[in-house]
Amino acid sequence: MSSSSAPPPNVPKLAPFAETQPFRLTEPPNVSWKVGDGLLNTPLGRDWKTDEELGWKTWDMAQTSPSDATQMLNSTVVPRPIAFVSTLSAENKPNLAPFSFFQVVTYHPPIISVSFRLSPRLPKNTRDNILATKQFVVNLISEPFAEAANETSVEAPADVSEWDISGLTQEPSVHVKPARVKESAVSLECELFQSQDIFPDGATVPSATLVLGRVKYMHVRHSVLRSDGLRADPAKLRAISRLGSTTYGRVSEGFDLKKPEWDEVKQILEAQRSSRE
Ligand SMILES: Cc1cc2nc3c(=O)[nH]c(=O)nc-3n(C[C@H](O)[C@H](O)[C@H](O)COP(=O)(O)O)c2cc1C
Repeated sequence: MSSSSAPPPNVPKLAPFAETQPFRLTEPPNVSWKVGDGLLNTPLGRDWKTDEELGWKTWDMAQTSPSDATQMLNSTVVPRPIAFVSTLSAENKPNLAPFSFFQVVTYHPPIISVSFRLSPRLPKNTRDNILATKQFVVNLISEPFAEAANETSVEAPADVSEWDISGLTQEPSVHVKPARVKESAVSLECELFQSQDIFPDGATVPSATLVLGRVKYMHVRHSVLRSDGLRADPAKLRAISRLGSTTYGRVSEGFDLKKPEWDEVKQILEAQRSSRE
């Protein structure tokens, strides 16, 4: 009998997690890119162009099975931020789970969205709790507790608290009843703003529910803030993202591109036009 701890055959050994790898701000992909240049004229850009010759695989989504649509959308619309959502049931039972169909919708008023995929076999306690109590806390996940957060996605029976599974700490919130995650660098205390069930064609049972939450109160650890006290520093936040399937992404490198100003773009376009005439 083989030992259960033996590594499976033919699985490449992964590099260890580089805990001390610092976030690097680098130059953008091509510092000499100019208005109208299109694809980069670098090895990366040229390879990208060559790959065009392989063409595109296409899906008519009306003819695509839900499981294929899941695979394709899940792995292509990436990286996704992850909401680590704390709720209470109508009977005050705490619940904690991660959701990567998550975004900021607008700043003013501050609204975020979280979307729940449903199946009759797998009701989402978080969704039911939000609809019942109208309150939730979105906590952001950083590298030091990635495993703890991931483990809360287990399909545990309703009477098991994912807080115990995670080993994370409940910290009282200010504006809402569900606790925030003390280990999170960022927590958004939210009230239900609006919800929308989504139905497959002809179905009477929803396959998803989109929840919009109004952010009422926000916590950000001092240690992740830049010196202006208003913006988080990605190097310190160590946020993780979802890349599809079971893969998570890290934020280890970034580059800045300045906001294009129309006056400057217009001048360049005019200069390019007159040099062609
Ligand atoms: C990183 C990650 C992202 C996830 N994103 C979603 C999501 O956006 N929507 C969803 O319905 N389930 C998502 N899940 C699955 C839920 O976390 C899982 O179904 C969980 O058991 C729900 O818990 P609940 O029933 O206590 O709400 C995700 C799981 C992981 C690990």
